[in-house]
Amino acid sequence: MPDRVPEKPLWEQQAEASAQLPQGERLQKVLAAVGFGSRRTCEDLIAAGRVTVNGEVAILGRRVQPDDDLVEVDGAPIGVKPGLVYYLLNKPAGVITTSSDTHGRPTVLEIVPAEPRVFAIGRLDLETEGLLLITNDGELANRIAHPSHGVDKEYLAEVGGGNVSAGKIRQLREGVELDDGRTAPAKVSQPEPGVLRIVIHEGKNRQVRRMCDAIGHPVNRLVRTRIGPITDRSLQPGEWREWTTDERNAMVEAVASTIARRD
Ligand code: URA
Repeated sequence: MPDRVPEKPLWEQQAEASAQLPQGERLQKVLAAVGFGSRRTCEDLIAAGRVTVNGEVAILGRRVQPDDDLVEVDGAPIGVKPGLVYYLLNKPAGVITTSSDTHGRPTVLEIVPAEPRVFAIGRLDLETEGLLLITNDGELANRIAHPSHGVDKEYLAEVGGGNVSAGKIRQLREGVELDDGRTAPAKVSQPEPGVLRIVIHEGKNRQVRRMCDAIGHPVNRLVRTRIGPITDRSLQPGEWREWTTDERNAMVEAVASTIARRD
């Protein structure tokens, strides 16, 4: 009888498997990209034995194949395909949302990492500030931006002409006539004279500015403060961060509920 070859310890098998997959992504990078915290935090999760790949406890250094491996944290699938990224940017005024500009103006895509390639969900005007979602997840982006399923977006508009009368606020709430059609009912309040908080779910071009023009109070400054469940008052203009897992789950839920409500 030949001697039985002793089985290699699990960590050695995994290290060998990882070495054979140099093209895979590092597990901590995949976890960080979907909102489990910084890479360091994700390394701690792995070291604590809380992460499995295809049912086996992962070790530090593990690489995974984006489309094939099942990654779980505390027994729950991480819920997103590795390789997908979700950023929240506080867009400053003067930065354009399109991916390139013939006039050489700075673009939002120059602020976030260049790889993987990403795009903005919807757009903000050159002079509009505030929250913008950026991702490479085309499916979720379509659902968020779809005009009839679009999630609520909240804006703060500083308008000219001083205090806005109750009658004009009512007009905004009920819908105003624009040259491309009437706006849907909106939520509108005036937290202080000359400042309007406007919540809409449509995405007509320059919609908030044109709504305010229509009631004779042109916008001097416009800031988007919330997109569906995502808001962040501490993110400074020009700063970005990844969505948290809770935010991503809440967004998926928000999109699902708008589809259920409006279809
Ligand atoms: N409405 C506008 O008028 N501008 C924006 O950038 C977004 C909404």
